[in-house]
Amino acid sequence: MDLVKVKNLFLEEKERVKTLKDLENFRQTFLGKKGLVSQLFKELKNIPPEKRKEFGREINLLREEIETFIRQKSEELKKLELEQKLKSERIDLTLPGDTVLPVGSKHPLSAVIEEITEIFKGMGFTVETGPEIEREDYNFDMLNIPKEHPARDMQDTFYVNRKGYLLRTHTSPVQVRTMLSKKPPIQIIAPGRVYRRDDDPTHSPMFFQVEGLVVNEKVNFANMLWVLREFLQKFFETPVPVRFRPSYFPFTEPSTEVDIGCVICEGRGCRVCKGTGWLEVLGAGMVHPNVLEACGIDTEKYRGFAFGLGVDRFAMLKYGIDNIKLFYENDVRFLKQFASL
Ligand code: DAH
Repeated sequence: MDLVKVKNLFLEEKERVKTLKDLENFRQTFLGKKGLVSQLFKELKNIPPEKRKEFGREINLLREEIETFIRQKSEELKKLELEQKLKSERIDLTLPGDTVLPVGSKHPLSAVIEEITEIFKGMGFTVETGPEIEREDYNFDMLNIPKEHPARDMQDTFYVNRKGYLLRTHTSPVQVRTMLSKKPPIQIIAPGRVYRRDDDPTHSPMFFQVEGLVVNEKVNFANMLWVLREFLQKFFETPVPVRFRPSYFPFTEPSTEVDIGCVICEGRGCRVCKGTGWLEVLGAGMVHPNVLEACGIDTEKYRGFAFGLGVDRFAMLKYGIDNIKLFYENDVRFLKQFASL
């Protein structure tokens, strides 16, 4: 092997080293066990003794030169590779994501239930709930709804495949559950789903009610009127006219239905209020003694008032929606309009 040839090869090959892998191959070629430098050393024995020392020195110099090159090139390449890696893996945390996850919004009925709840909490009420599959006696008998009452008609009630149970037709059985499990004073509301065999633009087979119940030693009809008026004016955010009409419910005596001045036409008469200028929004009354007694409450000592309202109707009136079905179709074009609630 010829020293000059190896030197030239070194000068040529070092220009070709572009990556760490190239450099490793290069090292093998020159400094490997069977590499060119080893081969040069093997030549030593063929060199005349007087030139041998000089030749050896030159090979050593070449080897050092190669080693220096490898060391420097290695550092240079490592630095370069790191830079490239940093460049390609750079993350700009301030850039917006390329798939923006769609953000949901509160359902208008949830928003209205929350709003109603907040108003009553502000008046000292707490929240109770009950099951949607309810005992028939809690839903009817204990609320003084006799067996032959039209509300029990198969037209109205969804019965379930278990004797004595049904899908509750109103939230009033939560009154019963509360009175059975708690001692007066009681001051609760009970929001939740209810079910009836009804289906048209203003009725859905499943809808929402909020029940209210106050039982203590001195509550009276006038207190009830005040609470309901206060609630309605807070909810509709105006001093909306409120009217109480005598009515009938089996579980209250006396009973009243509560109307507000039509929020759509402001009392002038429109399709929604059927030209009357008034909208019926609540049922209420003093809890019937039969109901208190059925729940083990001493009627000599305690009295109560109760009320019930349809959440869907409140939401429809507040937001001018004329079809209850919109609440249950979950069309995002509808729901998005309530995104700020
Ligand atoms: N439960 C009645 C209904 O679903 C609403 C109602 C009326 C509830 C008067 C009451 C009440 O608590 O006192 O139509």
